[in-house]
Amino acid sequence: MSAATPSEYFDAIYAQDDPFGYRERWYEARKRALLLASLPAQTFGRVWEIGCSNGELTADLATRCDSLIATDLSARAVALATERTQAHAHVDVRQARHPDTWPDGLFDLIVFSEVGYYLDADTLTRMAHRLKSSLRGDGVLVACHWLAPFAQAPQSGRDVHRLLRRELGMQRVFGYGDADVRLDGWALNAASVAQRAGLR
Ligand SMILES: C[S@@+](CC[C@H](N)C(=O)[O-])C[C@H]1O[C@@H](n2cnc3c(N)ncnc32)[C@H](O)[C@@H]1O
Repeated sequence: MSAATPSEYFDAIYAQDDPFGYRERWYEARKRALLLASLPAQTFGRVWEIGCSNGELTADLATRCDSLIATDLSARAVALATERTQAHAHVDVRQARHPDTWPDGLFDLIVFSEVGYYLDADTLTRMAHRLKSSLRGDGVLVACHWLAPFAQAPQSGRDVHRLLRRELGMQRVFGYGDADVRLDGWALNAASVAQRAGLR
């Protein structure tokens, strides 16, 4: 399996403010809406978004939590996400390359969206185990990935979700899939949305 995508690739694409079209593409807006709608609680305590890019999803997640750490390996992405979320004092945007660096403490929600395929399988395997141990007892990990293989990524989105399912060893509590995208949520505690909301 080839190595993780080099930092230079991201340095180059962030010559643009919105290299993935998050602010303009309906495809991306729909996918964010799917992810946000799938979250099994209205609000969460402590949240971590991995690979926050220019902060579009970050700004939406900010409205659903008490505190949010958003990380990205690219200094330019961190600057863009910081600007995008400046109205939200509870958002802390940090430059970090994972899994080499890792935030302290436990999280109620970890969002791993469109990042996994940039990691080689060995690194993603190590990352999966650390992600699991960074969740609180009722915490949720949500992963969302584009399925079509592309040249800069050592793995496909399908590979990523297959590996996560195998290595996490957690309950899959929700999921969505179509020809383009896979979205899965895993939790240590398999309580349903209605149970979490006290309806049953
Ligand atoms: C395609 S964007 C995803 C943005 C956002 N999560 C979303 O789904 O809308 C992927 C981001 O992950 C960052 N990234 C890639 N590998 C990373 C790593 N190992 N650690 C931290 N950030 C990484 C890239 O710099 C890029 O900004």
